[in-house]
Amino acid sequence: MSFKVIEKKDLDFFNKILGGNFVVTDPEMLKENSHDETEDLSFFPEVILLPHKTAEIQKVLSYCNENNICVTPRGAGTGLSGGAIPFKGGVSLDMKRMNRIINIDEENFQVITQPGVITEELQNAVEEKGLFYPVDPASRGSCFIGGNVAENSGGPRAVKYGTVKDYVLGLEIVLSDGKIIRTGTRTLKDATGYDITHLIVGSEGTLAVITEITLKLIPFPKKRLLMSIPFTSEENATKAVNVILKMGVIPSALEFMEREALKRSSEFLKESSVYIEVPERIEAHLLVEVDGNDTDDLYNEAEVITEAISSLTEEDIAVAELKQEQDKLWKLRRVIGEAVKMGSIYKEVDTVVPRSILPALLLMVKKIGEKYGFKTICYGHAGDGNLHVNILKEGLTDLEWSAEVPKGIKEIFQFVVEMGGTISAEHGIGLVQKKYIPIVFSTETINLMKSIKNIFDPKGILNPGKIWPD
Ligand code: LAC
Ligand code: ZN
Repeated sequence: MSFKVIEKKDLDFFNKILGGNFVVTDPEMLKENSHDETEDLSFFPEVILLPHKTAEIQKVLSYCNENNICVTPRGAGTGLSGGAIPFKGGVSLDMKRMNRIINIDEENFQVITQPGVITEELQNAVEEKGLFYPVDPASRGSCFIGGNVAENSGGPRAVKYGTVKDYVLGLEIVLSDGKIIRTGTRTLKDATGYDITHLIVGSEGTLAVITEITLKLIPFPKKRLLMSIPFTSEENATKAVNVILKMGVIPSALEFMEREALKRSSEFLKESSVYIEVPERIEAHLLVEVDGNDTDDLYNEAEVITEAISSLTEEDIAVAELKQEQDKLWKLRRVIGEAVKMGSIYKEVDTVVPRSILPALLLMVKKIGEKYGFKTICYGHAGDGNLHVNILKEGLTDLEWSAEVPKGIKEIFQFVVEMGGTISAEHGIGLVQKKYIPIVFSTETINLMKSIKNIFDPKGILNPGKIWPD
């Protein structure tokens, strides 16, 4: 599909709608919006538009649709599958000025927000009212809630609290031709017609532009304990996951980090004194958080967990009660992605399997890595069966990287699909996983999904080149 190249008359139109300051063609800024956090990929937009209200987006989309100009919506650019990358040029529709929390409804435990609010700021604002929005991707300090909705993000607390889709009650969206649609309700129940809200959640900017989000909230749990559990065997660490969950305790986070993941994040944070020494014998760690309203109850749960896994590890378990101590451990966990990518070109795959299969998935990933000669560093949301596999180029030739690694990824994906899992749990398909989509879906399913795309966006101007194989 080819799109019209943006000319002066188009820029003049955008200037009229948005004002000159918010129509950007400065090469440095275009470069900034040419990438997100996905590998080393970069595709330049022709212009960046910075709307601050729905009516402006409506006019921009209506014009772009009429003139066959493609539009790639962009949140904070923290995505890991290339969703915000303007693959076919055109407009980068940058949502950072749509950054207002519209209303926190304390009576009904809801928040209405624009999409350009930083997720952590939204969490802090509702926490001040004693409320909790629990979905916190590793990048929560910089990612936008709109991007989280577009990607159906998860993060560490999904094991107890679910992912974004479990909190979105309704949306305001703008369709490709500029029509404004409201989906869903402000109620917790809704059995009325097709569920457009959840079709848009996770649609990666390919169906509509999200301009307003209504989220469900829950009461904020007042207490947390965070356990750091070392293992001398990776396999035992993954086996412990189900042992814990079968005790009837649902931790608010249950994270796995292989030795090298923790070592690299620790080295990455050395300067900021968040360093922990990982002894030679330790192969993996679990971070297990429990939350609630009573500290004694939480210590009982920690006891149950410690007992349950006693045959899998004899190492000392550290239990952090102070927020400061917990924050330190969480910091180590949250920077793993960043730390691992520092030293090498990499690919990150976001595998997920029914969680009892996690030990087999880890073994399979390592085996496939050996077969194709690549090194992996694995970590992730073990309680969800969600393993992030970082594949490092370190030491591989360009040819091995481009020819052998995709074969290995394909085998990993075939395994997860055979096991009842899928190829992305929370990062989306975007640009980088689209060639693997036929492993997951039949031709009939792909065609059905493409027909849906066609209804929402008949000219294909919204985020072209994403999700579907070329
Ligand atoms: C994390 C991101 C990569 O869990 O999803 O750190
Ligand atoms: Zn993650």
